[in-house]
Amino acid sequence: MNVLGIETSCDETAAAVVKDGREVVSSVVYTQIPLHQPYGGVVPEIASRAHIEKIGAVVGETMTRFHGSGCGEVDAVAVTYGPGLSPALIVGLNAAKGLAKGLGVPLIGINHIEAHLHTSFLIDHDDASASDIPAPAECMPALGLAISGGHTAWIDMPEYGIYTILGQTLDDAAGEAFDKAAKLLGLGYPGGPVVDRIAKEFLSASGKDLISFPKGRPRDGVSALAGLPAELCVSFSGLKTALLRYVQREGGAEALASAGEIPRVVASYQEAIVQAIADRTRTALRRSRRRSLIVGGGVSLNSRLRSVLSDVAREAGVRLLLAKPRYCGDNGAMIAGLAFFRRNHEADAMRLDVNPCLEVGE
Ligand code: KG4
Ligand code: ZN
Repeated sequence: MNVLGIETSCDETAAAVVKDGREVVSSVVYTQIPLHQPYGGVVPEIASRAHIEKIGAVVGETMTRFHGSGCGEVDAVAVTYGPGLSPALIVGLNAAKGLAKGLGVPLIGINHIEAHLHTSFLIDHDDASASDIPAPAECMPALGLAISGGHTAWIDMPEYGIYTILGQTLDDAAGEAFDKAAKLLGLGYPGGPVVDRIAKEFLSASGKDLISFPKGRPRDGVSALAGLPAELCVSFSGLKTALLRYVQREGGAEALASAGEIPRVVASYQEAIVQAIADRTRTALRRSRRRSLIVGGGVSLNSRLRSVLSDVAREAGVRLLLAKPRYCGDNGAMIAGLAFFRRNHEADAMRLDVNPCLEVGE
């Protein structure tokens, strides 16, 4: 079964065709990052306009490559309908409705966060027979960790396709925390990749001389969101304030840069985020028996996080599943892939509207 997946929830216009939920036959991602860079973050109206301009070309290129593969025809169209930016989601959903109607195939609505947790199972078309990645069912029960620019959540996956939130951020997502720090330090947008690179160089050169920043614990007395236990939640607002105070105390970002201190600050800040995530992951893994830890989302590209999570998984005796770098950020393949496994569960998406606040497991 070939599914055409469409993704426009934030600042990537993406489409892909995935065979039987795992084999990525064609995938095209147009990133809008340069359009948002001058503003230091995603501007919803600019995102929406760019999706409208690019969606036709992105889907066209995806279909051309798919037809070139000789894999047959598209059997269903899948689309992200939430969570995300409303004006951006609308573009993808409307395009997908038109495509499904035109092709005479069913439309499947997909939750963006759940789709990030499918990325570890994607296999490249030219590598399909060589892959040693297990099938989703072989990895259950699992702990899912979705970490992106918009979300940070620990998700219970007793079976593939069943999701329950165990814990999440009470304020900023991990990616947002990286982006805001980079903005404060004048390092540009998006912050995650540049922080990762600078921190990596610092850690490999000098190692341990880190500033102690708060490790993302919710403040005492703060009741965790929606009844979730505080020990499975993170809060990055205190960390952000601690960084701001530190920068102010040292005379500002420019003074830190002249003193050559940015790498140490950046590595210390990253370490606080990574250790906060590692700590909650350890706690969640201790609480119930699982076979695997499945990680997805743009922040899962972080090299320090990948290394620390692999230690956490080894200590807990679970298999760690991390996506290939090209599938960590937003893409259409994760939408098309998950749709294959969700096809009998989802309501007819022809009636769906976008849901910017769609919850995991909803
Ligand atoms: O999954 P994604 O592409 O979009 C959302 O669904 O939000 O994630 C984007 C986020 C951005 O905040 C970006 O700074 C972060 O992922 N990111 C990273 C790295 N690469 C991207 N964060 C930390 N380290 C990285 N290497
Ligand atoms: Zn995403």
